[in-house]
Amino acid sequence: MRWGVLGSSRIAARAVIPAIRAAGGEVVAVGSRDRERGSRVAGELGIPSVPGGYLDVLNSNVDCVYIPLPNSLHLPLCLEALERGKHVLCEKPLALNAEEADEMGAAALRQKLVLAEALMYRYHPRWEVILRVIREGRIGVPQHVAGSFAFPLQPGDDYRWDPELGGGALYDVGSYLVSASRWVLGGEPTRVLASAGFRGGVDLWCDLLLEFPDQVGAALSCGFSRAESQWLRLEGSEATLVIPAPFTAWRGQRIPVYLERAPDRPPAALETPAADPYQVMAGRFMEAVREGSPPPTSAAEAAANLRVIDACRESWKEAAAVPVSPARGPR
Ligand SMILES: NC(=O)c1ccc[n+]([C@@H]2O[C@H](COP(=O)([O-])OP(=O)(O)OC[C@H]3O[C@@H](n4cnc5c(N)ncnc54)[C@H](OP(=O)(O)O)[C@@H]3O)[C@@H](O)[C@H]2O)c1
Repeated sequence: MRWGVLGSSRIAARAVIPAIRAAGGEVVAVGSRDRERGSRVAGELGIPSVPGGYLDVLNSNVDCVYIPLPNSLHLPLCLEALERGKHVLCEKPLALNAEEADEMGAAALRQKLVLAEALMYRYHPRWEVILRVIREGRIGVPQHVAGSFAFPLQPGDDYRWDPELGGGALYDVGSYLVSASRWVLGGEPTRVLASAGFRGGVDLWCDLLLEFPDQVGAALSCGFSRAESQWLRLEGSEATLVIPAPFTAWRGQRIPVYLERAPDRPPAALETPAADPYQVMAGRFMEAVREGSPPPTSAAEAAANLRVIDACRESWKEAAAVPVSPARGPR
């Protein structure tokens, strides 16, 4: 399968292009806003062709496109790619809000093309262990999720500081926490209460309270202003599952998860496999293209996550609890 890549992004070079190749795909073209930069990146990564700008890649004879652009460019470039008959793997968050994600999902359906969000953590086999522990009732009935995802982002020209480009901590790292809470609890929150602190027009940090049905809740925190931290705790009626590095375990990293029955007893470590989730994701994407099957990180799943994010953004603006809108689906 022939792939084109839009932009000279860091995550593409570091993780996703090697993963596409390892999964059996061929990366044949990269496009950039700056032809010279595109040529340099293509040379460094051994990509044969630099057709020019993004639309030149989309007009070339690639089968699939990987879009690792700033978040506000996901919608327009996805639509351009789908219109030209290309399958699309687009970075997270798929869009800036649920309405955009629904529009992208509808375009993919119309064109009978695969559109997937590159939410790589969902493909890590470690999560099969986590979900099995929950399914087998080893923590009892899930009652509460707590989690944090933060890192220190230096002031500078990173798109994450630019509100026009879809910057901010909630889109960048909070979206993982919302996604994982919905996944482990197996449902959708009905109401949220969020607060945030801002720098230069983007959320520097935010704290989120999500209310799920049956008196189940989540308390999540993310930010760009503190030391690197990333963890999730799922508290059940009988035990707690502690998940270190829930999102970025990579390649040789074999990071256990822990079952904690009481604070004064040592937790039991449960081994989890090492893997490259980007490679699994690229492989599953190409399988979906070959078989015409929906990918696990579909536009509908991304839209469900964005409905919660939409409510969080409204909540911190209104300084009030806000209901999560029901799914509308692609129209
Ligand atoms: N799944 C993951 O593990 C993961 C990790 C990190 C990031 N991401 C996601 O990947 C996307 C890109 O993140 P990144 O950290 O790789 O970003 P990045 O290194 O800043 O790359 C973004 C690229 O977009 C292009 N671009 C187009 N318009 C731009 C603008 N106005 N300002 C800046 N760049 C612009 C640039 O390429 P040209 O100038 O060459 O066109 C730039 O190199 C985001 O959606 C992010 O959420 C995912």
